[in-house]
Amino acid sequence: MKEQERERTAIQWYPGHMTRARRMIGENMGLVDAVCEVLDARIPDSSRNPDIDALAGDKPRLVILNRADLADPDVTARWRRYFTARGLASLETDAKSGRGVKQLPKALRELLSERLQRLAEKGQAGKMLRVMILGIPNVGKSTLINAAAGRRAAQAGDKPGVTRGRQWISLPGGIELLDTPGILWPKFESREVGEALALTNAIKAEVFDREALAASFMLRLRETRPEAIEARYKFTPAPEKNGYELLEDAARRRGFLSSGGEPDIGRMAETLLREYHGGLLGRLSLEAPPEEA
Ligand code: G4P
Repeated sequence: MKEQERERTAIQWYPGHMTRARRMIGENMGLVDAVCEVLDARIPDSSRNPDIDALAGDKPRLVILNRADLADPDVTARWRRYFTARGLASLETDAKSGRGVKQLPKALRELLSERLQRLAEKGQAGKMLRVMILGIPNVGKSTLINAAAGRRAAQAGDKPGVTRGRQWISLPGGIELLDTPGILWPKFESREVGEALALTNAIKAEVFDREALAASFMLRLRETRPEAIEARYKFTPAPEKNGYELLEDAARRRGFLSSGGEPDIGRMAETLLREYHGGLLGRLSLEAPPEEA
């Protein structure tokens, strides 16, 4: 992870930070026709900040399920149906490889079809549609902007000595994207949500004890995707064991032993968290939408 990003992720969201972020978003909201709310496709619920409803007001909104490459495609499809049922347009992307990003202009034109029609009626059919990307830290906002813009456009302002004002990036289809994403603060009122955010690197994992986080993740895996444990760590998770004991089993299978021959839980915890982050446990969603009616 680049230093700058590490620092950004490390921001603790104090009221002062939230006020500044809110102000920045508010200032830019007046300039845009629509907002893209970027979520992590593995945790669409936990990576949402419900304050966005108030911040975006009645601006048309496109939900982007990013990191779709790491999420279970069936679960992502269910989430999209869930959002559709609630009147929200959605798109799934893998901003890292660029997959899905090409569909962004078309999705935005559909979202803004009424506005386009009104503009056409006023003889302003050529007017650009302006859009802001919004989301909590580390969900892939900058990567998405870069992928949509092409690398060259995104790097231009990074040269030393180039001061940048607000800039707009042209996309095909008469759309302009604000080059600076709006950063929403992660919101967690329960331990489950906090853990989901830590597991996906949206909040610094250090907020939680690493071993406790990994142990809890093991339990979650045993409950929802035991086959992922079997495939990756080569053991069947016993139903009576706690998360630490499952980490011990995994450590033994990996040969992570201390000099005294005891399983090295700390090393196993780091390995599990890193391997999940890297997609090595397979495409694994942590949250499914509430059952469709
Ligand atoms: P942000 O602006 O919302 O804060 O997020 P940013 O674009 O900086 O992305 C955070 C990390 O997530 C980056 O990895 C980026 O490559 C990765 N990422 C973004 N979109 C996707 C995606 O769709 N799929 C996958 N697999 N990764 C994505 P990084 O800087 O290398 O950090 P990390 O991967 O170690 O977290």
